[in-house]
Amino acid sequence: MLLKNNLTQMLGVDTPIVQAPMLGVTTPAMVAAASAAGALGSLALGDLPAVVCRDLIRQTKTLTEKPFAVNFFAHSIPGLSNELRTSYNKTRLFVQDLARKHGLEVSLPDIDTISLTNYQDQIDIILEEGCPIVSFTFGNLDPATVTRLKESGVFLIGTCTSVAEAKVLEAAGIDAICVQGIEAGGHRGTFLEGPLPQIGGLSLLAQVYDAVNLPLIYAGGLYNVHTIQAAYDLGAQAFQLGSMFLGSAESALQPFEKERLRNAIESDNCLTKSFTGRYARGLNTTFMTQMEDSGFVLPYPYQNKLTAPLRQLARTQERTDFISLWAGQSLQPYREDSCTTIIKHLINQLQLI
Ligand SMILES: Cc1cc2nc3c(=O)[nH]c(=O)nc-3n(C[C@H](O)[C@H](O)[C@H](O)COP(=O)(O)O)c2cc1C
Repeated sequence: MLLKNNLTQMLGVDTPIVQAPMLGVTTPAMVAAASAAGALGSLALGDLPAVVCRDLIRQTKTLTEKPFAVNFFAHSIPGLSNELRTSYNKTRLFVQDLARKHGLEVSLPDIDTISLTNYQDQIDIILEEGCPIVSFTFGNLDPATVTRLKESGVFLIGTCTSVAEAKVLEAAGIDAICVQGIEAGGHRGTFLEGPLPQIGGLSLLAQVYDAVNLPLIYAGGLYNVHTIQAAYDLGAQAFQLGSMFLGSAESALQPFEKERLRNAIESDNCLTKSFTGRYARGLNTTFMTQMEDSGFVLPYPYQNKLTAPLRQLARTQERTDFISLWAGQSLQPYREDSCTTIIKHLINQLQLI
């Protein structure tokens, strides 16, 4: 397979492999390790406060001189209505009670004390730090932000989970699209109103390729040369892998979380809204089942902010039943090497086909 193409040239990298941004898992060391293998590293900034974003970008720059992408959540935040306040208070009591029944004493935040980050707060920092590539998920950028970033020469990558979303990104002047199949670990990047698109990678990539005229990056279920070749044949110019790096040396996951992933079986994997209010793919837990059944799940980002302290507590106690462990459908082979080694191995194999 030819490893260089238009897109690798635009991104300034040697190979078409993209290390997926994974909030909570990606570290500056992971981005640098991916860059060292000639891939595009992606630093996950999610909805972190702007000052934290700046620190992470600076740390990454001390570890690599190669270009890397910064990634954030381009979501819109639902306004705080009386109805939402009432639902929040009900969910808060439900979750605290559920945690207590399972031996976890936690005080969850009052709705007026949670702090929410809008992606516009992150843009100044991204521009000040001179980041050359921005990728985003959960939404599309507003026109003023697109103009601002493009006038500064920033390359923009949006995420779609349907053909309709791909068309919206193209019309907005985004430079490339990350096509996310239903197989993908972590949150669905879905942003158009309506039921969740649950389109498999093969169907989605082929149809997006026919519908838009932009370079495509494919994400979801990739783990070896055959899966990458399939995405290439369907029109992708670059290949984004996330779950492959969950167990890597540079992953921020703790040993007990890696152990859980290593032992995961196919039926553990599911989509859930229970932790954050947005659909995400990960390993099933007691919390997920009970929260889904309750009918109390709040919209993102409120559910996310509400459950964060519970997940933190569960993590310190190494409780796999109350943590969110995001992972895709292609969880095996589980790898513990450095991301550099994992990517170099893939590239060596790709050069042979
Ligand atoms: C733990 C985890 C966290 C993720 N966090 C993000 C994120 O912060 N931003 C983003 O655009 N995608 C995120 N994703 C989705 C990935 O970008 C990508 O779509 C997915 O990992 C590809 O599928 P795979 O896991 O089968 O390789 C995350 C995925 C995982 C597994």
